[in-house]
Amino acid sequence: VLQLTLAVIKPDAVAHPVMLEALHKIILGNNFVVVKRKDLAWRRQDSERFYAEHSGRFFYQRLVEFMSSGPMRAYVLAREDAIRHWRELMGPTKVFRARYTSPATIRARFGLTDTRNTTHGSDSVESAQREIRFFFPDFCAEEWLEKE
Ligand code: CMP
Repeated sequence: VLQLTLAVIKPDAVAHPVMLEALHKIILGNNFVVVKRKDLAWRRQDSERFYAEHSGRFFYQRLVEFMSSGPMRAYVLAREDAIRHWRELMGPTKVFRARYTSPATIRARFGLTDTRNTTHGSDSVESAQREIRFFFPDFCAEEWLEKE
């Protein structure tokens, strides 16, 4: 089925124009339609709110700091099975696992550490809805999907 997902290029990758461009080309080259796109930067509170579900984890503080450390780029992407396809392109969260098990993935190629892992992608239909609303509060997914 046609699905929407939220994809984010994180501050580590946006800081490197060549990497940002390479990631944008990966998106376009994999049959995603770019429905929405926005460059933005988070304050610390935005970062804390977005990742609230991780608030007890050992990596939470460094994650929150990293995600509010510089500009990001967010996309609403559409495609058949968009959520799974984007996650497959990203590869495993942990960069060293990614390098070992799936060296062609985004995180294996560009990720620096388990925190600075280049990209984010929604992991379910429910989180895609929540995350799209978080980044694009004015966007109406139902309306867009109906138009197709
Ligand atoms: P993301 O897909 O954005 O979701 C949660 C983020 O926490 C993850 O990517 C990483 O950036 C970060 N993170 C840091 N360390 C870990 C870890 N050990 N396990 C999972 N996520 C981690």
